[in-house]
Amino acid sequence: MHSFRYVGKELHCEDVNLSALAERHGTPLYVYSQATLTRHFVELDRAMAPLPHLICFAMKSNSNLAVINTLAGLGSGFDVVSGGELARTIAAGGDPAKCVFAGVGKTEDEIAYALRQGIYSFNVESEAELRRISRVALRLKLVAPVAVRVNPNIDAGTHAKITTGTYENKFGVAFEEVEGMYARAACLPNLRLRGLQMHIGSQLTEVKPFKLAVQKVVPLAQRLSQRHGFDFLSIGGGIGIVYQDALASGSPAWWKRPAARRILTPETYAATVLPLLRPLGLRILLEPGRFISGNAGVLLTRVEYIKRTGRKNFVIVDAAMNDLVRPAFYDSYHEIVPLRKRAGKTVSSDVVGPICESGDYFAKDRPLPKVGEGDHLALLSAGAYGSVMGSNYNSRPLAAEVLVNGRKSAVVRRRQDPAEIWAGESTAPWQRGKKR
Ligand code: LLP
Repeated sequence: MHSFRYVGKELHCEDVNLSALAERHGTPLYVYSQATLTRHFVELDRAMAPLPHLICFAMKSNSNLAVINTLAGLGSGFDVVSGGELARTIAAGGDPAKCVFAGVGKTEDEIAYALRQGIYSFNVESEAELRRISRVALRLKLVAPVAVRVNPNIDAGTHAKITTGTYENKFGVAFEEVEGMYARAACLPNLRLRGLQMHIGSQLTEVKPFKLAVQKVVPLAQRLSQRHGFDFLSIGGGIGIVYQDALASGSPAWWKRPAARRILTPETYAATVLPLLRPLGLRILLEPGRFISGNAGVLLTRVEYIKRTGRKNFVIVDAAMNDLVRPAFYDSYHEIVPLRKRAGKTVSSDVVGPICESGDYFAKDRPLPKVGEGDHLALLSAGAYGSVMGSNYNSRPLAAEVLVNGRKSAVVRRRQDPAEIWAGESTAPWQRGKKR
């Protein structure tokens, strides 16, 4: 449940009026609710409390320093996927000893950096990577904690681009090969076989795939743990969130409606996985990203033009696919609401950005209140995989970001200056123009 709601006619984030924020800081503007980030972390943490566990926030979903700092303050660990993300965690006050390092392509430099920082574990995606980690650890005279990522070959039933747990995907080590790989790993120098990891996909709204995957992996974890003396099993991330009814889901009443039963809550998730995991006696790691950050953020945008063609009503806004690529990339749905509530009939509209691509849209044929130039809109559920997937396409500066806490708000990323976009570029020595 999140903290975005209308107070009178004005959409608020906690106690802050979002129209006022948009006027003050300009748009496109990401706004995050600290109370919502906290609430989501605490809900999941409480639900998992019966077992020793560690939540490692998947910071690929939102790596703003202020977001990381909020979660670090609650005791969160972090799931990082690059040297850059680990450096960010440390810059934001996160503890490297609570970080797991995932990803299929870790470089030698990244491995060395993570080893020196003393991370909790590498989530290893192949035997070649295991050998590389062992080599680097030997050279640095350090011991590398590792966990193999098992691919349980369970279809998560989610969007093809975010399914990771079947043999169609590049991730993990095939279930049948994992034991052999651990046996060989036990002979490699400077490794500590610390655990086992899995992750089957993202935006899962049903508990069944989690149940099937955990059921399949627990006996394997048990056997391996007896042999190698494990500390942990990581069951990954992937808990889905509300996109369709996003605004309504900010109210406790919505959670009593039948529609809410289709959403996976931390309670249902924990009630399913805890009994399966308990006999293991291992520490359980979770890697949620979207569940914590998704509904904790919105993207504010200004209507630049209304354009009516023969067939369509286009609402042209100042945010674009470079700010939020999810609709273009995954056909994903983000609810769109005006910052100032409007009465009257809705108009079927396409909400589009200014980028020169037909894919640059946020909604198609969406019933929207009648809006005009200068009005502000909010794209909801934009806190996960929003600003982090932003780019400078069309030489558009990265959007600014604001964190709200009660009545307080602060800019936590300033709007990029256009000249910063090409600051690292130059002409070649034989050309006129900017010198090196
Ligand atoms: N752990 C691993 C190993 C992952 O690969 C991921 C996400 C997570 C945890 C966190 O998953 P979450 O709890 O956020 O579902 N850009 C896409 C999502 C890509 C997810 C990649 N892996 C989107 O916008 O939907």
